[in-house]
Formats: sequence, structure tokens, C-alpha cells
Amino acid sequence: MRLFISALLLALRLVAAEDGSAAWLRYAPVPHAANTSRITPSEIVALNSTKSSPVYTAGQELQRGIAGIFGRKLNVSAQASSALSTIVVGTLETFTDAYGDFDEAEDLEEDGFFLCATGDKVVIVGQNERGALYGAFEYLSRLAQGHISSVSFISNPSAPIRWTNEWDNLDGSIERGFAGPSIFFRNGFVVDNVTRVAEYARLLASIRINGIIINNVNADVQVLSARNIEGLARLADVMRPYGVQLGISLNFASPEDFGKLNSYDPLDPKVDAWWANVTNQIYAKVPDMAGYLVKANSEGQAGPLTYNRTLADGANMFARAVEPYGGVVMFRAFVYDNHINETDWKADRANAQLEFFQNLDGKFNDNVVVQIKYGPIDFQVREPASPLFSALHHTNTAIELQITQEYLGQQCHLVYLAPLWKEILEFDLRADGRPSKVKDIVSSERFNRPLGGYAGVVNVGTNSTWLGSHLAMSNLYAYGRLAWDPSLESEAILQDWIRLTFGFDQKVLNTITDMSMKSWPAYENYSGNLGIQTLTDITYTHFGPNPASQDNNGWGQWTRADKFSIGMDRTVNNGTGNAGNYPPEIANMYENIETTPDNLLLWFHHVPYTQRLKSGKTVIQHFYDAHYEGSAVAQTFVKQWESLKGKVDMERYEHVLFRQVFQAGHSLVWRDSINEFYHNLSEIPDDLRRVGNHPYRLEAEDMRLVGYKPYSVSPFETASGYTAIVTTSNSSVGVATANITFASGTYDVAVNYYDLIGGKAQYHLEIGNRTIGAWTGDLEDKLGHTPSIYLDGHSATRITFKGVEVRRGNMVKITGQPNGIEPAPIDYISFLPPGIVD
Ligand code: GCU
Repeated sequence: MRLFISALLLALRLVAAEDGSAAWLRYAPVPHAANTSRITPSEIVALNSTKSSPVYTAGQELQRGIAGIFGRKLNVSAQASSALSTIVVGTLETFTDAYGDFDEAEDLEEDGFFLCATGDKVVIVGQNERGALYGAFEYLSRLAQGHISSVSFISNPSAPIRWTNEWDNLDGSIERGFAGPSIFFRNGFVVDNVTRVAEYARLLASIRINGIIINNVNADVQVLSARNIEGLARLADVMRPYGVQLGISLNFASPEDFGKLNSYDPLDPKVDAWWANVTNQIYAKVPDMAGYLVKANSEGQAGPLTYNRTLADGANMFARAVEPYGGVVMFRAFVYDNHINETDWKADRANAQLEFFQNLDGKFNDNVVVQIKYGPIDFQVREPASPLFSALHHTNTAIELQITQEYLGQQCHLVYLAPLWKEILEFDLRADGRPSKVKDIVSSERFNRPLGGYAGVVNVGTNSTWLGSHLAMSNLYAYGRLAWDPSLESEAILQDWIRLTFGFDQKVLNTITDMSMKSWPAYENYSGNLGIQTLTDITYTHFGPNPASQDNNGWGQWTRADKFSIGMDRTVNNGTGNAGNYPPEIANMYENIETTPDNLLLWFHHVPYTQRLKSGKTVIQHFYDAHYEGSAVAQTFVKQWESLKGKVDMERYEHVLFRQVFQAGHSLVWRDSINEFYHNLSEIPDDLRRVGNHPYRLEAEDMRLVGYKPYSVSPFETASGYTAIVTTSNSSVGVATANITFASGTYDVAVNYYDLIGGKAQYHLEIGNRTIGAWTGDLEDKLGHTPSIYLDGHSATRITFKGVEVRRGNMVKITGQPNGIEPAPIDYISFLPPGIVD
């Protein structure tokens, strides 16, 4: 009977809609629950009954989890019990008080836990309260994945700081957020309803994240208003039961812009006193505040350099203020001049971190942590590890990773990021000729520092999926797991996440694993290769392709591409000297073109397009091939996902399918734009004659146009044939017609068009007087990426109608009804024979 009920529950769970809000904490019944339920304990003892205690939370969570997984509601009590069949959870202190000493106690480190599960007896002991909660989540994660074998182990964190950064603005918008408005702020203030913040803290606690910086690094001084400080207290109150501490980003100019002082000089005693006072006020309301995050002298933000003070002077000012409370200051190393001059061959933004921070090594207080983005520039699809990690031996450091996919498809492209992060974390910088993996530097171990750790830019929003995409949640999950234990393998983490998120079906596991593990290489292949950076539009949305935007501006994300050659010469011998920022063994590797890995060739070297890679291909042919290969892989994701129909609940199935179809189409926009751009620039043909040659396309500008006119798209490479069509007025319908010259047969008919923000144009496609489809240009409501008001690589997209019967001579007719500023733009129509991707 039990078996039957479990099977029924399972079936119900499969068809029941899931909106993603439960993420990996679904506690779905496990298929063999009937067998395992008899060995789960019959009562829970949580050795703390104070509701704000993470130990109390642990008791509640165990109750909830076991109810979900086994359908049995266990009692929770705070009294030690001698019953044989219990789950006991407590801190080292409360546990030993109640049950006496135990052997493993000495090996527990801060936030660590001991988990021993043997049959009906489960003991979870945290070094502190948070650790106890982590142990409870670990036990539940095992049960939820069907791992019920006996275990006994200690788990300690790799690093004390495991925080998220949220780039939320007080008005409720989120910088580089792709999942709707803020869960923390609205209309200038902390939100009234903090339920979702509590849910977020729960989610983070389950992956052992212990701090959240809740507001944008480009900080608004008003976060310090009395009403907002009250609000911070409310947020901290709901996060506290999960052991997640709250922190805030500060605007360096606050003393002047908010406090009405006439200075924000960090060495001015008035300024110092002002910050001490503000800090005291906050700690009075949030006694366990984690600390501050500061972006100073970066991208227009104020900082100490204005007063000729050092960045360390600036950081230490905050450090003094939070020190009495045990607070930490995360001081960002993302400091650079965004007005550098490309005509200077030696200029290099990638050198900025070292230029600004190297000489300050040892000058930061012990409660300051320098927070360093993983690479020297800015979250690109491929960067070498920042050399700053190896240059600071007497300074605490943390690595900054980006979960929100700012430059990596903005949650509209599947990109599983753990493999990228692992490459950086496992990279051995060989400081002083000794093993110096990035993960061992930021853990604080390598240079024997008191602090170190991880900052992950997450930017969750109010969307029920948290990140705007179900599959993107593997990145948040992996971030927490790696921050705790960076030696874990990306695929193993992923598979835990899949089982917890989608259940046990082997095909689901294999398929999502395969898609995810192929996703970063695919994205790199169809965006920027060989270390040239993502090649997205760096001055606008950071979403679609625009290679030209990298150069001829002061931002320093240059490619230095001209007709003959491409890449940044970062050698010491002839270039910007950046290679020499690394310890000698690494510097020598990057200095020499022969020993530089192909995937970073153009990061370190300026070479002709005809330069041969280790593979034997030229740089340009590699570009062409990689773009075809990467976008071909993105097409397979659709089929792979479709093969899971019926195995994943409909709500999530449809949601993911929509995104995979979008990605498949947009990967072609990427492929064609990048290939066309470099083909046009270098005038070197593709060996396989694919680039610029599209035999299955009917260009919209070549059709008979009534109410439509040709339009030269900018950047040119984001339109097939450089030209699209737009309606001649923004109110009346446009019609484009043509007679089909392709052989009669069955085709997938794909229409490439542009979907801009600011209007919802409507389209109607007919072939031989039959309606093939109708759609609306409303992706801005459905996708969440930063939209565009132009026809460009961000708005370019594709819709495909499968298996359409076409006769030679049939008329194809496309009707566009403009709306708002969207002039129903169309680029081309492809008639794709089975198996062809044009
Ligand atoms: C990137 C990003 C900005 C952000 C900045 C930062 O440049 O585009 O939105 O403010 O990084 O990390 O400070």
C-alpha cells in the first residue's frame, strides 16, 4: 500500500505545475521511499527552542523535509531524549551539555558540522548554530537524493566568507538582474513584505552561504536613511534564523552627499567620526551585520583617490568603524580608469588591479578583504585568473564570481558556469615557485591570512524561478557548493542539483548533465574565442554580439582587430607587460606564443588572422569553425530538452523549452554576426564557404514590399545581407511577398526578425494562401534579458515553423503590424530542408 501511495505521490508531483520557487529544496517523495521510510527516526530533537536560532530552524526544516520525502510528520522537541530513534541536532556546546563529549569535536571548524546517520539514529552537531543547520540540510539533501546509507563525517568550509552580492537598487530595479524586480527594495525603501527574503535566506543556507550584501555596489547614499536602517533590521531579522548575515554596499561620498559634511576624505577625523557614528546606528539595529562592501574610484564612483589618499586609507576607514562589532569590509579590486587611450600600445586595463593594489599589500587592516573578480577585466567568457591573487601575500583576498549571466547570455542562454569557475579556482599561479592554486589563496591558507573567501553576484528577483530561468539555478547551487568545497567536481555538483530539482529519472539526469556540461564550451564557441573576450556589446546591453564596440573607446576591453591581425599584445617584450604581472613560471608561459594555451592566445598576443594554432588551423578559420560548431550544439539542446517531455512537469518543461528555442535561434545570430564581422574585416574566405553564403535564405529586402522599406542595420553584421525591412510608418501594416524558387518539398521555415522594447508588433506568415503562423514581438515580457530599442544583435531573434509543405512558385507573404516604436522588422526567411541549420 505504502509503495502504491508513494508511486501515486510521485506521479502527482510530476504532473503538478512547479514554478521553481522551491528550487532544489522540493523535498519530493523519493521513488523507494516505501523501503526507506521504516528506517527514518521517529522524532526530532533540536537543541534550541528560540525561533531566531538556526538550530530551531534546523528542527523545523528536518520536519518539513521528512514530511515531503517520506510523508511522515515527526515531532520536534527541544528536550534531549534517550529515545533510540531520533534525529538530534545542536551545537557542539548544547550537544555536549545534553549528551556528553564526543570524539570528533576537536576537528570542527567555524560553521562546520558533524553528521552521523546510522539507521534510526542521526546526530547532527554544528560547531556553531549555523553549522548545525548546514548539517540538517546536508542530511535532507542526502535523503532527497535517495542516499540512505550510513554515514559519519565532518565537513568544514574552505573559507569563512561565502557571501552573495545583490546589485539591487533602492527603486527596486536590479543592475544586471534578469528575473524581475528586487526582493529587498521598492520605491526607495526596504520592502514591507519580507517573506521572500526569508525564503531566499533559506535557499542560501542550504548551500552554506553565510552573508548577503543586499544593495548595488553602485550604492545609493539613501540606504543609510533612518527608514532604511529600520528596514535593514527587519531584513536581518528574517535572515538570522538561517544563519545568513546581512551586509550593505556603501557609497564612498556618503558623508558629503548624505551627511552634509564638506568632505569625504578618509583621513579627515570628521569623516571618520561620521562613519563610526553611522556604523554604530546600524549595529544598534542589526547587531550581527556582516559588514560593508565598497566600490571606490571605479566607473565614476567616489573614492579616496580624490583626496590623494590610498585605497587602503579608504578601506581602513570602514574597517575601523566595523571592527568593534567583528564586521568585515569587502573592498573591491575592480578599480580602473575607463578613459584609457587605445592608440597607446602599452595601455592596458588588465594591468589596473595590480597598478592600484600591489603596493598596498600589507597596508589593509585585518578585517579588510580585497574582493577580486576572477579575471583581470570583467566576467568574460574566458579570462586568465587575475594576477592580483598571487601578488597580495599580506592582504586578505576573496574571489568575485558572477552567477547572474551578465556577459554570458543573461539567463536566456544555458551556460553552466561551474566549469569556468573551476578552471580559475584550480589554476596554479605558482607564487614564489610554490603551489598556489587560486582556491588555496582565497581560502586564506596559502598566504596564511585570517580571512578570505567568495563573493558571488547573484541578483535574484521576484520571478518565481529566482533567476529567471530554471536551468540557471544550477549556477547558484554550484556557487554555494564550490565556496564550501572548491575541490568538488562540476559534474558531480550538477547531478546533485538535477536530482534535487528534477527527480530521479535517469534520462532526465543524463540529458540535463549533457546539455549543461556542453553549454559553456558552446557559448564560448559562438561568442568570443581564443581569449578575445565575449565580443558582446560592451557599451550597451552586454547581451548580443557587437565586436566593434570593444575598440575605439576608453573602456579598455580592446581586441585591436584590424584588416590583418587581432589580439592584445600583453607581452613584456613588446606589449603592455601584463604577462609579467604573473609569477615567473606563469609569466614565461604567457609571454611565449608557443606556450600560451590556444584558448588565451588573443588575450596575450596580437597575431595575424593567418597565425596557426596548435590545432593547425588558422585563427580566422578557427573563428569560423567554432562559431558553426557552437551554434550547432545549441540546436541540439532543443531536441535534448524535447526528449524530456512527460518526464518533467509541464510548467517547467515549457518554460525551459521556450528558452532553449530562443537560444538556438540567437546562437545563429551570434554565429553569423561574428563570422560576418571578421570575414568582412579580414576578407579571408571561410575554407568551407559557409560564411556570407546562405543558400536557404530569402532576404526580406529582396521581397516585394508594400508598406515596408529596406533598413540598414547597425551594427551591419547583425543583419543578413546587412539589411532588414521595417514598416514605412509606425501605424500601418507592411506586407512583403515573394514567389518561392526552392524545390517543392517539406521545410522548416524560419523567420529572423527583431524584437525591440517599446512595442509589440504582430506578424502573420502565409505560404500559398495558407496561414503558417502568427506571432507577436513580445519577447521583452518573456525573456528578461536587457532589451534593446534598436535593430541589432540583442533584438535579433528567430521563430521556426516545422514541417511546412512548400511548392515551388507558391507565394510567401509576411504581414507586419507595427506597434509603438517597433516597426515589425524582418531580416530574412529561411527554407530549411530536414536536418539543415542555416
Ligand atoms: C560591470 C557591470 C556593471 C557593474 C560593474 C561592477 O562593469 O557591467 O554593471 O557595476 O561591473 O562590477 O562594479
